[in-house]
This record gives sequence, C-alpha cells and structure tokens, in this order.
Amino acid sequence: MGVMMGKVALVTGGSSGIGKATALAFAAEGAKVAIASRTRGTGEQVVAEIRAAGGEATWVQTDVSQADQVTAMVATTVAIYGRLDFAFNNAGSGGGGGWLAEIAAEDFDRTIAGYLRSCFLCMRAEIPAMLKSGGGVIVNNSSVDGQRAFPWDPVYSAAKHGVLGLTKSAAVQYVRQGIRINAVCPSWIDTPPIAEMEARDPGATERVLQHQPIGRLGEAREVADAVIWLCSDGASFIVGTALAVDGGYLAV
Ligand SMILES: NC(=O)c1ccc[n+]([C@@H]2O[C@H](COP(=O)([O-])OP(=O)(O)OC[C@H]3O[C@@H](n4cnc5c(N)ncnc54)[C@H](O)[C@@H]3O)[C@@H](O)[C@H]2O)c1
Repeated sequence: MGVMMGKVALVTGGSSGIGKATALAFAAEGAKVAIASRTRGTGEQVVAEIRAAGGEATWVQTDVSQADQVTAMVATTVAIYGRLDFAFNNAGSGGGGGWLAEIAAEDFDRTIAGYLRSCFLCMRAEIPAMLKSGGGVIVNNSSVDGQRAFPWDPVYSAAKHGVLGLTKSAAVQYVRQGIRINAVCPSWIDTPPIAEMEARDPGATERVLQHQPIGRLGEAREVADAVIWLCSDGASFIVGTALAVDGGYLAV
C-alpha cells in the first residue's frame, strides 16, 4: 500500500514530461491526483493510465497564467476529492530568449507570466485549501537556471530565480501553520521540449551534456522521485530549500 493513501495531490502541467512522471508517481504512492493542463487529450491520457493501474485521477482544464482558472483548479480539486495535501507547481511556458538588449518587453511579460506569475497564482490558491485540510506540502519547479546564469534565455532565468524567491519567502511565512514549501531545480531532463530542441538544432543535446557531469540527460522519473520525497514525512525538516536534481550541473 502506498504511503500517500487517502491524500490528494495536484500537479500542474501533469500531462507531459516532468509533470506527467510526477502525477504517475503520486498515484503509485496511493494519492488521488488532479492533473491540471490546458489540453484535454493529453491530460485525459494520463488519467486513463493512472486508472488502468488501479489509481484515481481527474483532469482539470487550466491555464495557469489565468488567475480565475487557477482559483477554479483548486476549487474543483477540493470539490472532487475533499481536500488538498500536495501540490507540484510545474507548468510553465514562455520563451523567446536571446540577447537581452533584443528581447521585446511583451516577450519578457509573457515569460514572467508563464513561469513566475503562474507559480504565485497557484500558491495563492493552494495555501488556503491546505490550511483548511490541516496542512500540506508545496513543491515548485524552478531550474538550475534559477540558481545561476542562463545566457541563452535571461528572462527564463529571471523567472526561475523568482520562483525560488517566492518559494523561500512563502516557506518561512507558512511553516508554522503546517505547510512546507520547497523547490526542485532540474538540469537537462529528457522531456518533449528537449527532443524539440534536438530536432531544431541537431547535436544540441550532446553540447548541453558537456555541462552536465553525469554525462546523460536526467529522466523525468528522477525529478518525480525528488518531488515525492519532498512531499513525504522523510522530508519533514526540509523547508524553503532549492533541491538540485541535476547530475552535478551546479557542482561545476
Ligand atoms: N526539461 C528540462 O530539462 C527542464 C529543466 C529544468 C526545469 N524544467 C521545468 O520543468 C517544467 C516542466 O517542463 P517539461 O520539460 O516537463 O515540459 P513539457 O512541455 O513536457 O511539460 C510542460 C507541461 O506544462 C503544460 N503547460 C505549459 N504552460 C501551461 C499553462 N500556461 N497552463 C497549464 N499548463 C501549461 C504543458 O501543456 C505540459 O503539460 C517547466 O516549468 C520547466 O521550466 C524543465
């Protein structure tokens, strides 16, 4: 029997990549899982996969950059499953990148909204629900780029640094009310955006791996394992941390 039996987990961006692996991992531990994403087809596929393995999940259509939809995402999760114990704020989108002096202000706003404001909106909605459930654990998906320079996309790096600022500050605010808040900082992980990068620019993966001492991409499951551990009682003294899941990337 999983250690999260009777608990309820919410995963944003749970239809693909790291979010999907984490939704499957929560379900494997016995949690009921709300999978929030924008597109019905891929979200419902993950739900079907979890149910086929004997778990319980539901898909909640959400664009995490929209405040009203994020409020509804948490309300729907609580309406269906009665409580909220764990949240993995993982979804994000934006992009553009390039030389800072050439980035349009609109692209800056889009990336900050997609990765940072969305994380704020999710935490703002999840914390009151967790307080009503008697406490909970939030894990935000930052990045190694939240801890060091990422010259290919300075705005992404700024957004991910911001995610860590929100994580640490909210962690300090709410820990005495029974909510633990932490972040994971993955390096290069084998997910669809990395495959798209390689398709656009053959050899790109090999080049980025020169910065990843372990010499391979991470697996989405390896990030999911870290999230599950942060949510477990084994991490009961871990508060406001930025946990690198990076094959040694930040050690260099
Ligand atoms: N893959 C990596 O190497 C890597 C490294 C560090 C951090 N990350 C972070 O991990 C997270 C997930 O990335 P991934 O590689 O698994 O990508 P992915 O594209 O496989 O998954 C992203 C998921 O988020 C969803 N999503 C995006 N914007 C959304 C929005 N506004 N509202 C709702 N859902 C939305 C997508 O539909 C998808 O389900 C991102 O925050 C990314 O910055 C990824």
